Amino acid sequence: MKILTVGSGGREHAITWRLAQDEAKHELYCAPGNAGTAALATNLALGAEDVANIAAWAAENKPDLVVVGPEAPLCKGLVDALAEVGVKAFGPCAAGARMEGSKRFAKEVMNAAGVPTGRAQVFTDPAAAKAALPEYGLPVVIKADGLAAGKGVVVAETAEQAEAAIDDMLVGNKFGAAGAEVLIEEFLDGEECSILALVDGENAVLLPGSQDHKRVFDGDKGPNTGGMGAYSPAPVVTPAMMPDIKERIILPVVRELKKRGIVYRGVLYAGLMITPPGGKKALSGSAINVVEFNARFGDPETEAVLPRLGGDFAKVLLSCAEGNLSETDVVVKDEMAATVIVASGGYPGSYAKGKPIAGLDDAAQVPGAIVFHCGTKVQDGQVLTSGGRVLSVTGLGKDLRTAVDTAYAAVAKISFDGAFHRADIAHRAFNR
Ligand code: AMP
Ligand code: GLY
Repeated sequence: MKILTVGSGGREHAITWRLAQDEAKHELYCAPGNAGTAALATNLALGAEDVANIAAWAAENKPDLVVVGPEAPLCKGLVDALAEVGVKAFGPCAAGARMEGSKRFAKEVMNAAGVPTGRAQVFTDPAAAKAALPEYGLPVVIKADGLAAGKGVVVAETAEQAEAAIDDMLVGNKFGAAGAEVLIEEFLDGEECSILALVDGENAVLLPGSQDHKRVFDGDKGPNTGGMGAYSPAPVVTPAMMPDIKERIILPVVRELKKRGIVYRGVLYAGLMITPPGGKKALSGSAINVVEFNARFGDPETEAVLPRLGGDFAKVLLSCAEGNLSETDVVVKDEMAATVIVASGGYPGSYAKGKPIAGLDDAAQVPGAIVFHCGTKVQDGQVLTSGGRVLSVTGLGKDLRTAVDTAYAAVAKISFDGAFHRADIAHRAFNR
């Protein structure tokens, strides 16, 4: 098949890599891709959000499938534009991508479908928002409605912090239009996990659960990032929970969207809070609640989950796009995976770019390790850093310990000026 993957991060390298593992040989493209995808695919000089030019390329080159990685082009209607030129795409239409693009919309859909999630109210008036705070107790969660690059959520421990977050968004305009509406949400107690569900408009297949590490430093300290590592499976979500998650969370959302005229195809990523016995019970009464939905594969979850999949990945993605996904298409291998992000010093704040990266070949030689590129580029034959998250190093193994050790053995081979990583990936699994 001829397949274009849109995006330039570790997620898109992992998608491209997994497509390249299929038994059938594919003709692979990336827009714009990175130094890692360049080894497997033809990188096109098209920005991931350049909807018009990607659609024009697709109209001319007629790929069998376009796989859209990031949320921004989904929300901007790339899949709709591709449909107009008769090209199949893996990813929801813009109306479906609102499950990620608007937290208010996602809540409306969840509430209509009876899906367990934190209780929330929407406000545009700061005084009304503040007046509602006492109903929620502390901590309380303040969220900007729209896309805010992962920064639009404040878990406030005090009323002052909550009021300041409300003022930042509604008065100070901190997130522009994305923060013109604010949700006040019940705090959910427990441990998070990520469920990536493949959806074909009607049916869904859940990929194995995983867990992200959002804070920058060991022990979950420091500011939030795009994710500093992941592992799969995550023991917090037991195999016994999966049918429940599918029947009570994923499928009701897909059906509710369909009722509203939205045929959702692609990944529906559910960020879930699992409350342990003895934890603070959510108002929904459920021990599993939705924290958020995303309309795409997670990053770095994808780099941990996709290497665990066997079978024909292109066929699975195409079947979602065509509306004929079958349970039997998805094969999960008997291996566990851990992914460690190697980041640029200063991330998630400001950081330098253009640092030469050493040791990539040695790292790739470590048995069971795969080095995915997140923020890299090639210049005069040298791979340079070009982002905050630079590399996503995955280790595979028969158990989680082996997977983690493999990932760190490969990370140890890599160096660039200012490089750092978390040393405790999968700590929650090991501490159980
Ligand atoms: P989001 O952008 O919705 O993924 O939120 C970012 C992070 O904030 C989540 O990964 C959680 O760690 C935290 N968070 C969001 N909503 C809640 C909630 N209702 N209760 C507890 N933590 C939350
Ligand atoms: N790793 C979190 C996300 O992709 O949103």
